[in-house]
Amino acid sequence: MYVLGLESSCDETSAAVVEIADGVRFIRSNIIASQIETHRLYGGVVPEIASRAHTEAISRITYEALEVAGITLRQVGAIAVTSHPGLIGALLIGVNFAKSLAYANGIPLISVNHIHAHVAAAYLSEPSLKPPFLALVVSGGHTSFYLVDDSTTFREIGGTRDDAAGEAYDKIGRVIGLPYPGGAALDKLAYEGNPNAILLPSPALAGDSLDLSFSGIKTATLNYINGMEQKGQPVCPADIAASYTAKITGALAQKANKALEQTGMRTLVLAGGVAANSHLRTALEEVCRKKNASLVMPARELCGDNGAMVASAGYDEFLRGNLADTSLNASAADAFPRPVSAEC
Ligand code: KG4
Ligand code: ZN
Repeated sequence: MYVLGLESSCDETSAAVVEIADGVRFIRSNIIASQIETHRLYGGVVPEIASRAHTEAISRITYEALEVAGITLRQVGAIAVTSHPGLIGALLIGVNFAKSLAYANGIPLISVNHIHAHVAAAYLSEPSLKPPFLALVVSGGHTSFYLVDDSTTFREIGGTRDDAAGEAYDKIGRVIGLPYPGGAALDKLAYEGNPNAILLPSPALAGDSLDLSFSGIKTATLNYINGMEQKGQPVCPADIAASYTAKITGALAQKANKALEQTGMRTLVLAGGVAANSHLRTALEEVCRKKNASLVMPARELCGDNGAMVASAGYDEFLRGNLADTSLNASAADAFPRPVSAEC
């Protein structure tokens, strides 16, 4: 079976074909039209520009994905599309395109949660992965721990109370002069600095919860930079990158360790754009080695937003008979709002 996956929740338009044969998922194409260069001018994603760029790219890259996969639309068994969460205008482009394509060609339509899709990227890299497992999703918009009971049932058991790790990386990256998005550049720069150079607070909240907060470490870093500037002293971007990375990585590793202990899970999946961070990958390898647990991480090129992860998550929904129809809408929130009953 071939699943066409469409992604347009933020600043990447992506279309991919994933073939499932004997239960194993093979990526036949995964085309990504990134808007990073466009948004770099503004230091962040401009939603209206993102929507317009998705409109311009989606049809072209969908046909490119089919061509690279060497199949026609007739051979597509299901169309999976990210419907939530994300930027509402951006999501609507993918959802409406997918609805039209599915309706016009009589192909089943599947609605996909973007967070579930990040985790489903792990099945593409590790076919033997099976729920239940613990998942840590770290991206530009999310930082949460989930108990994945089965491939479509996620229970959030902890996470950030304010900003996401990716947003925190991008913010400080911008302040120390790295181009948007700063995460990947900060990852590299951290190797050139001293992780103990600057005293920063840990994002891990005290106690037994699995919660984190990134606002304190961001403010402390900004205060440090402003203080040095006021004193006329130079700041060392590499030391900032190293100290900041060490604290964020340490906090996520500490809470991952706690989550494994509390849940008794033997497998941890690390997913989302920030899962490409080399320091975090190494730290979690160490946590899992000590706990005798397995760590599953998507290949680095599958950590950021892409259509293949959407096709992978869509396949799981398809197996459970969770099909959408032309009434499908997009939602900026993590879950679709529950219908309000007349008695309320
Ligand atoms: O999952 P993603 O592609 O989009 C969202 O769903 O948010 O994640 C994007 C985030 C950005 O904040 C980017 O800076 C961050 O992932 N990122 C990284 C690395 N590569 C991407 N952060 C830290 N280290 C990296 N190597
Ligand atoms: Zn994402």
